[in-house]
Amino acid sequence: MEKTIDESKQGESLILEQKEGNKRKLFIESYGCAMNFSDSEIVASILSEQGFNTTQTIEEADLVLVNTCSIRDKAEQTVRKRLEKYNTIKNNHNPKMKVGVLGCMAERLKSKFLEEEKIVDLVVGPDAYKDLPNLLAEVDEGRDAINVILSKEETYGDISPVRLNSNGITAFVSITRGCDNMCTFCVVPFTRGRERSRDPQSIIEEVNDLWSKGYKEVTLLGQNVDSYLWYGGGLKKDFDKASDIQKATAVDFAKLLDMCAVAQPKMRFRFSTSNPQDFTIDVIETMAKHKNICNYIHLPVQSGSDRILKAMNRLHTREEYFEIIDNIRRLIPDCGISQDMISGFPTETEEDHQDTLSLMRYVKYSYGYMFAYSERPGTLAERKLEDDIPEAIKKRRLAEIVQLQRDLSEEVMKSNVGKVVEVLIEKSSKKSDAEWSGRTSENLVAVFPKENYKEGDFVNVKINSCTSATLIGEAVGYSENN
Ligand code: SAH
Ligand code: F3S
Repeated sequence: MEKTIDESKQGESLILEQKEGNKRKLFIESYGCAMNFSDSEIVASILSEQGFNTTQTIEEADLVLVNTCSIRDKAEQTVRKRLEKYNTIKNNHNPKMKVGVLGCMAERLKSKFLEEEKIVDLVVGPDAYKDLPNLLAEVDEGRDAINVILSKEETYGDISPVRLNSNGITAFVSITRGCDNMCTFCVVPFTRGRERSRDPQSIIEEVNDLWSKGYKEVTLLGQNVDSYLWYGGGLKKDFDKASDIQKATAVDFAKLLDMCAVAQPKMRFRFSTSNPQDFTIDVIETMAKHKNICNYIHLPVQSGSDRILKAMNRLHTREEYFEIIDNIRRLIPDCGISQDMISGFPTETEEDHQDTLSLMRYVKYSYGYMFAYSERPGTLAERKLEDDIPEAIKKRRLAEIVQLQRDLSEEVMKSNVGKVVEVLIEKSSKKSDAEWSGRTSENLVAVFPKENYKEGDFVNVKINSCTSATLIGEAVGYSENN
């Protein structure tokens, strides 16, 4: 899963290797961003030590966990519907099952969940997963259990996540937790707490371990990876108070990328998500220096209008964003760049919207994740601004943004026809079992006849044609990375 919010993965239930002797059955499903899916792997790892094996059949589960997302109202409504579904199953088929809510909704709603949703036995926020064994003991004794304490230190760096539903080739490794940015529309700083970075040594160890298990690509994950800063532990915002030696030996994101690329020179590295205000030229230079760092940057902008960027508390202007784009294009000419965009933020005018469209044309994004503004309780925008753009206008502007992105994506696809590109084979193509599917360094999906190639091979593929979302080609040999 590469995207910020991968619609096809929403609600996926997770299954992992069965540990002998484990008697209890866990059904765990996840909604929202890649970080939630990655967190579910940590939860499954913790519970595997508590006698739980995973199952994909809710009817036989002793414990049902749902890892939830609060980013938009719709995400929360989806989870509410799932809870209704669990309730029906509990009443009709499986009276012994216990239900727990994890993640951002747990954090946002806290004990209210236990009052509102009678089916819920357990509420656990994103920093409290290590407390699950104690909380489950409470539940086993018939009491509701809750821990939504946010931490200044927790990075789960010492937990080796089990890989759930993995293709065995690509994996996520989380490097930061929380976010300090306070974009006015965003609930994440409230649900995931203050920003902290994970010890680089534990990141490199996880990367090395993945390589030894046959993985070929790692995506470094965080709400804002460019803000990564390790100086021996502690919050990003306390860096000022660090000692001179801590400051001198600190590891920032460019350095971390470099360390990863050097530690495993044949492994591909990606990262997500970047934030323009923290993105530095060092990162682009490090990407340009290492062939195994993919030429792809997910660089959300949210709006093309300076006035709206300011109201969103995005701490950069349209011009500054263009400077970053120009630097990327200069140092990495073919770099894939993708966006997140919000239509209909409070006070957005037609002119602001046109600024968004013109910014998109300037950047020529290869992909985008686009949303209508959804007011979130407790955010600065909710407290200070009226949600004044009618739903129909939000939807119409969103449709225009989506259509333009489709055209831009198609242009990027077409510009690859005739080229030979390196593809890492991930799986069989959805459309044909006779073809492999994988991604280029720029994160474009490519399919081609299987011949004798295998999953995990790096193959040079000549691109002969394309659709709006897929490059179609034929292999011309292994790439030099193989
Ligand atoms: N830094 C994060 C961004 C989290 S939210 C990351 O790692 O992905 C993902 C995207 O959801 C944001 O970039 C934004 O475009 C969108 N989003 C966040 N809050 C929103 C809201 N209140 N309404 C609509 N879209 C929102
Ligand atoms: Fe949200 Fe802005 Fe952080 S979008 S996750 S507050 S960078």
